[in-house]
Amino acid sequence: MGGQAGGLARRAALIEELRQGREGAILLDLGNLADVGAKHEPVLDAAALLKYDGVSLSEADVLLTPAVSERARAKGVPVVPQLALAPTKPTRELVVVRGGSRIALAALPRAVADEPAAKLAGALRSLRRQAEVVVLLSYAGLEADKRLARAPETGGLIDVILEADEIRFESQPLTVGTTGIFTAARGGKCVGEMSVEFANGKPTFRQAVHQVEPSLTSHPGVYERMSAFLAAQPEHKSVAGEPLPLGLWGYAPASFCAECHLSQTAAWRKQAHTRSMQTLQREGRLLPECLACHSEYFRMTNQFALLPTGEDGVQCATCHGDGLLHSVSSRKQQVFRKVPEDLCRTCHNQERDPDFDYAKARERIRHW
Ligand code: HEC
Ligand code: HEC
Ligand code: HEC
Ligand code: HEC
Repeated sequence: MGGQAGGLARRAALIEELRQGREGAILLDLGNLADVGAKHEPVLDAAALLKYDGVSLSEADVLLTPAVSERARAKGVPVVPQLALAPTKPTRELVVVRGGSRIALAALPRAVADEPAAKLAGALRSLRRQAEVVVLLSYAGLEADKRLARAPETGGLIDVILEADEIRFESQPLTVGTTGIFTAARGGKCVGEMSVEFANGKPTFRQAVHQVEPSLTSHPGVYERMSAFLAAQPEHKSVAGEPLPLGLWGYAPASFCAECHLSQTAAWRKQAHTRSMQTLQREGRLLPECLACHSEYFRMTNQFALLPTGEDGVQCATCHGDGLLHSVSSRKQQVFRKVPEDLCRTCHNQERDPDFDYAKARERIRHW
């Protein structure tokens, strides 16, 4: 099986398995469907084939692929509508019925989440009137999610938030008030499974992230479509562009950190993480599928450019957070010190690094 088609096809098989095993599961995709846009067609075809209940489109999806929501609808894939600010535009509801319960889905873009909670209450109440369970697919970041879940005007109106735009992956859901907040694992190499149970009116939230198992056989329909698509792509069709101005990268590169953390940066420069882009260059595979793990710049900007050595790869920011405010303030509250094992495993996963031994690997990247 071809390496790249393999990942998606196996993910499809895993989704099938989950769907068959769990009565009443809802299948959703939080978007960033194809990173640089090229793969929207086959990914939407796959979503149609697997009968997704909804696909939410990120800003990047909309920017990179004109008329992407029309294309999705034309293929019979429901698009999760954006939560609109009342009263100018009423939110069109997407309501899914499972086990006798009505579940309303709406997407929460950053711009909408930044509005005062009181301005969102109208739209959320309207969702609540349509359904017993209200689920938001958020691109606003964990802090904005928590704020909404906590705010007296909106908190009680949201049951579940699925957060897409968060570089910090939390392996367990957060409970804020009565809202469960789940984060999506990045890189599209996992299938997340979440459940909500109500007992005595109080919800309990559970989450499992399934790594794509190399032993899983592929879904034939999806595999065929992906292979055909990839076969039609020239090897280097990965939109190499001029680097964006530094202010748009969304992270502080290692050269920033070096100003104050000289010894840590010197240690990192000797490690494989620093060279992960050179590895792809050497292999002649500067492809979105590979960049998703090998390039911080690609993950943060959805673009690809050849940057000077040390400014891309698995960056300080990959593990410690974007570092933008911290680089100016030096405050330790604005950087993450602890790196959860799960974060390593979003890249060192079953498919790419089946023998990953966290304790040993941690020693090999020691710079502290
Ligand atoms: C202007 C100087 C400065 C820059 C630039 C800087 N740091 Fe720091 N950093 C500090 C100082 C000072 C501390 C110790 C803060 C404290 O203990 O209160 C620190 C602490 C840390 C810690 C430990 C936090 C903790 O909870 O103990 C990490 C991790 C870290 N920095 C990572 C980074 C990364 C990654 C970058 C680049 C994105 C960076 N730093 C850039 C000054 C800086
Ligand atoms: C964003 C993806 C990503 C994350 C997160 C990540 N790694 Fe890596 N890691 C890579 C890639 C890609 C390589 C291969 C680099 C190369 O050689 O081109 C690598 C290589 C390594 C290597 C060298 C392996 C070898 O045999 O030479 C070690 C050790 C390692 N990582 C440990 C860790 C640990 C520990 C964590 C978590 C604290 C972690 N990594 C988090 C992507 C990641
Ligand atoms: C899910 C994240 C992920 C993706 C996607 C990914 N890699 Fe990697 N890659 C890693 C990790 C983690 C390692 C280090 C594993 C190890 O050392 O065993 C690695 C190591 C490598 C190495 C070995 C580096 C060396 O010099 O020893 C090569 C070559 C490589 N990757 C190429 C690719 C190519 C080509 C693609 C796209 C087809 C790709 N990778 C996609 C995570 C990823
Ligand atoms: C693959 C993940 C990873 C990368 C990449 C990474 N770090 Fe770390 N860093 C860690 C881990 C893990 C620790 C140990 C955290 C702990 O448990 O205390 C750490 C600790 C630190 C500390 C605290 C050290 C101390 O002695 O207080 C600083 C500062 C730091 N890193 C800076 C950096 C800088 C600067 C870079 C880039 C040049 C970088 N890190 C790259 C994972 C990473």
